[in-house]
Amino acid sequence: MRNDLLRRLPVEQAAPQNYGGGRHRLRVLYKKRDLVILGLGVMIGAGIFKISGVQAATAAGPAVIASFVIAGTVCLLAALCFAELSSAVPVAGSAYSFGYVAFGELWAWFIGWALILELLLAACAVARAWSLIAVQTLQDLSIGMPSGLAGVVGQERGFDVFALAILVLLIGLLASGSRVGLRTLWAMVLAKLLVIGLVIVGGLLLFDAGNLTPFVPPARPAPGGGEPTVLTALFGDPSQTFGIWGIFAATPAIAFAYIGFDLIATAAEETEDAPRKVPQGLLTSLVITIVLYVGVAVAMVGMISYRELDPARPPFAQAFAEAGAGWMGTVTDIGAVLGLTTVIFVVLISLTRVVFSMARDGLLPSGLAAVSRYQVPSRATLVAGGTAVVLSQTVDVLTLEPLVVIGALFAFLAVSAAVPALRRVRPDLRPPFRVPGGATIPMLAMASIAWLMLNLELKTWSYFGVWMLAGFVFYLLYGRRHSRLRELLDRPPAPATALSSPPPARSPFDVPPISPQAGPLRQSPLDRPFSAPAGVQPSPPYPSPGESPWGTGSAHRRPEGPYPHPSPQHAAPPRPQGAPPPHAPSSFQEAAPPRPQSGPPFPPPGRSGRDGEFPQDRLPRGPRPYVQGGRRPWGQTPAGPADGDLPYPEEPGEPPYGGYRRP
Ligand code: ALA
Repeated sequence: MRNDLLRRLPVEQAAPQNYGGGRHRLRVLYKKRDLVILGLGVMIGAGIFKISGVQAATAAGPAVIASFVIAGTVCLLAALCFAELSSAVPVAGSAYSFGYVAFGELWAWFIGWALILELLLAACAVARAWSLIAVQTLQDLSIGMPSGLAGVVGQERGFDVFALAILVLLIGLLASGSRVGLRTLWAMVLAKLLVIGLVIVGGLLLFDAGNLTPFVPPARPAPGGGEPTVLTALFGDPSQTFGIWGIFAATPAIAFAYIGFDLIATAAEETEDAPRKVPQGLLTSLVITIVLYVGVAVAMVGMISYRELDPARPPFAQAFAEAGAGWMGTVTDIGAVLGLTTVIFVVLISLTRVVFSMARDGLLPSGLAAVSRYQVPSRATLVAGGTAVVLSQTVDVLTLEPLVVIGALFAFLAVSAAVPALRRVRPDLRPPFRVPGGATIPMLAMASIAWLMLNLELKTWSYFGVWMLAGFVFYLLYGRRHSRLRELLDRPPAPATALSSPPPARSPFDVPPISPQAGPLRQSPLDRPFSAPAGVQPSPPYPSPGESPWGTGSAHRRPEGPYPHPSPQHAAPPRPQGAPPPHAPSSFQEAAPPRPQSGPPFPPPGRSGRDGEFPQDRLPRGPRPYVQGGRRPWGQTPAGPADGDLPYPEEPGEPPYGGYRRP
């Protein structure tokens, strides 16, 4: 098979500049604090505002606190692995991209496919839950609903105007540029945190220790006979609930509440100094969430006995009503509406980034990798978001939450395994964040995630198997044929010229901008030897080590004056044949020093989009004269003095990767 399914994507080729220039790059937008907000925005949602009560009432009792601690610990182990890989491979695909560089294309596909399942269903399920809680909140506030809406809002299945409206609103916000969304996200997450704080304080004030006994309720027959999990089918009694097995059964359901820390890594391409800030943001937001969840769980089971909890109703409203503070229930319902809104929002962001990454690699139609003038993947947003809208209105998504969990856990498992794998295949990588203790934590993470997965129901496993099988068929029919990895790895080495021998770049992510040189070019200069014409003074190696191509600060424009390139209009008058050049060496290769074979640590210290390491990010907003019209064949890093002048004109109507035309 020509395309080896296990071929790995070289880490350096996972970098965004290898994907056709500006059209496939995302805008650098996030700082560390934004990542923490993103994480809190996506984690704190239905898991705490709804599922916590369901699990306390039906599976674990007060021991749901233990489920929160266990699930949080497992997620923390996985998060450490995500942190190392997002430090080494800070690109938009997260677990999918990590799988690509560590295991190869087929596994990357499976991980990406599982992520799509997780994120699509999460967006749909949380939108439906949003509708239910929004209706409850309007009732709490005694706000009447138009009679025409009766029967089409707050529905668990079928057509639902609220679920449709929230999805369409957020998709529109995202497709139009996430800067607006980021401000909105901040406001909503802060409001949500305020409400969570009120729940904890209020709950502790109204705490009754008697509600905590028995902490682990004795096992009893499950209503309807119970659904067997893999573990209870093998070792336990599937017809029982509560007891020790109840804690285990509740734990993967509670893991739903932590899903989202992994999604922070999908924002890596849009983050300043991503190799450092993404791991910090990811771990910070998860630790904050674990602390908040344990506090909220203690407050909840301390306010109301698990026997009195109605799983069909939001638990905090019941708990506060039981404790005589019903108005707090209304406050928490408002918090839940905000909380679920931000969950849907960040899940949609992550879904579009994963689709964008897979399309950029050719595993999904490449049109989905187009980036709009606002540098957001608008097409991926509209297609993925549109799919979510349709699913949310036609499938009983609220019953499919375990599929969200199994998709996420599959990705966690793969990422934990990818840490030792990537260390083995690329021992030269020195990411700023490394999981301490060698392979111990990744191994612990793998074992504990596998154990959580075995606590999922057999039914969930069978649905998941069908989804993955469908994905495998799609991969064989489409992804394998269109993968750009083969194109990259099959390319013969370019001729030994300065252009094929990049300057001593500080990072694989460090690439000069491309100039939109006028006029079509049917042959890439990278495919032919290239010599400077007579009379052209080559510039020093470009960029010089330690400095940016166009300078820093206000130098958003390239220097005035003619480009130092060999185009006819800038060439010196012809000189007599055989005469020595006045001052130029015969080629740029002679002018540029040879590229060192071993570079500095990767990624380099202090890589920062805003600090000027991505020259593209130093360009002014709005029209991007040097980037948007330019392109270069992916897998090549043009360099040398003439780099800024390589013409890869983009013609109207071309497909995203159509600009590189072999002669
Ligand atoms: N963690 C997210 C929630 O609980 C998915 O809604």
